[in-house]
Amino acid sequence: MGGVDDLAVVVLAAGGGTRMRSRLPKILHPVCGRPIVRYPLALARDLGASCTVVVVGSDEAEVREALAEDDVEIVRQPEPLGTAHAVLMAKPLLADHRGPILINYGDHALYRPSTFASLIEVYGAREADLALLTAELPDASGYGRVVRGPDGELERVVEERDATPEIRAIREGNMGVYVTDAGFLFEALPQIGNDNQNGEFYLTDLVELALEKGRRVATDSVADWQESLGINDRADLAVAERIMRRRIADAWMSEGVTFVDPDHTYVDAGVYIGPDTLLEPGVVLRGRTRIGARCRLASGTVVEDSIVGDESFVKPHCSLEGAVLGQRCVVGPSAHLRPQTELADDVRIGNFVEVKNSTIGRGTKADHLSYIGDADVGSGVTIGCGAITVNYDGETKHRTVIGNDAFVGCNANLIAPVSVEHGAYVAAGSTITRDVPESALGIARTRQRNVEAWRERRFAKRDDS
Ligand code: UD1
Ligand code: MG
Repeated sequence: MGGVDDLAVVVLAAGGGTRMRSRLPKILHPVCGRPIVRYPLALARDLGASCTVVVVGSDEAEVREALAEDDVEIVRQPEPLGTAHAVLMAKPLLADHRGPILINYGDHALYRPSTFASLIEVYGAREADLALLTAELPDASGYGRVVRGPDGELERVVEERDATPEIRAIREGNMGVYVTDAGFLFEALPQIGNDNQNGEFYLTDLVELALEKGRRVATDSVADWQESLGINDRADLAVAERIMRRRIADAWMSEGVTFVDPDHTYVDAGVYIGPDTLLEPGVVLRGRTRIGARCRLASGTVVEDSIVGDESFVKPHCSLEGAVLGQRCVVGPSAHLRPQTELADDVRIGNFVEVKNSTIGRGTKADHLSYIGDADVGSGVTIGCGAITVNYDGETKHRTVIGNDAFVGCNANLIAPVSVEHGAYVAAGSTITRDVPESALGIARTRQRNVEAWRERRFAKRDDS
């Protein structure tokens, strides 16, 4: 999208957010894995804004911390006296701004860049002093109503609490997005009063004020009214999440990804998925996850901040956190890959296997019921059912090293630090405390003794008593 010349963006976010009933500031609640406020900020960036100001309230410290890496100015509104008062807080930063100023809300996640671009376009084309976004709503309750005269000319915006029944019946709502300029804005704002039901300084009063002064006010209608969904409580949050989730799924489907059921697949904004990958219902992809091409992720699998190589197959109910998988790996069902797990190509990790902070070489298999922690495992290794690395002595973690083509028998305990060298074997049931040299067999278990006719002796004893 082409940038707008010298655009400033003001994001209002000083409202109390009390309806969320949360310790976390409202605008930091995630929608598809991203704090709500990041959506308007991303829009400002897409539009090429030269200056973005976020107006915050009593949660200034948390918001500042969350936005520390962002190229934004943060100003505080000491008290939430209304949207007009909130915009006034940006005056010290924007009083001399020459280009258009776009005002929107920090609790709106669903606006598309094209919607804002269109409003800026209308503002320019009509040579307006103020342009606002409106929409025909199926149910306008909660919104300010756009009041027009007999010829459809704009008259004013009336907040629901101040509206007569006739005005409440209007379905054209104010979306809360405005484009104006510093000259008009900062001249008009101080003239807005708070003589209304809420006792608040309403930004929407700008419309009537502008018209009274003979200024030009334009409106632009958004086609998809759902873009204007403001997030005030957890129910709104869930609706925003559902809409955004579907948009993300639609975008990936258009890139060649199969979603068996897009409404029940949960892909965060910021995840990458390669073409011809298939996602079954109930898959959750979070954070900075990247899934390769031609993969299959089965139901109930949750992947966070992980990379999955091309053509890998993750079976049902796996948890991957900060793991890296090569190509053609087969994982699960019910496997747990924890941070710093690195699987080379063609690795097989089977059911109820947990891997943490370990590298696993090409073609290695751990098919059943193992724990591999703090280990460097070579290629072509077989790890038998129930084999585990004993990596923790109660104080410190130690590493296990298993060479290429080694074989670790079932139910072996490898007590770290220890090495099983290239081509070595560990006998099933062994507890290995010393290194097993290359090509050797390490066996560490008591020899079996069979007591003949034991059953008869046992019952004979019982008869005696
Ligand atoms: C506002 C509009 C309404 C519009 C609706 C669209 C006003 C007076 N009304 O109503 O016409 O239909 O949005 O969603 O503008 N804020 C501050 N400081 C304050 C008050 C609010 O920063 O003192 C911020 C809030 O954090 C929020 C935004 O401004 O992000 C909107 O405030 P809110 O009180 O939710 O206004 P609405 O009642 O939704
Ligand atoms: Mg609101």
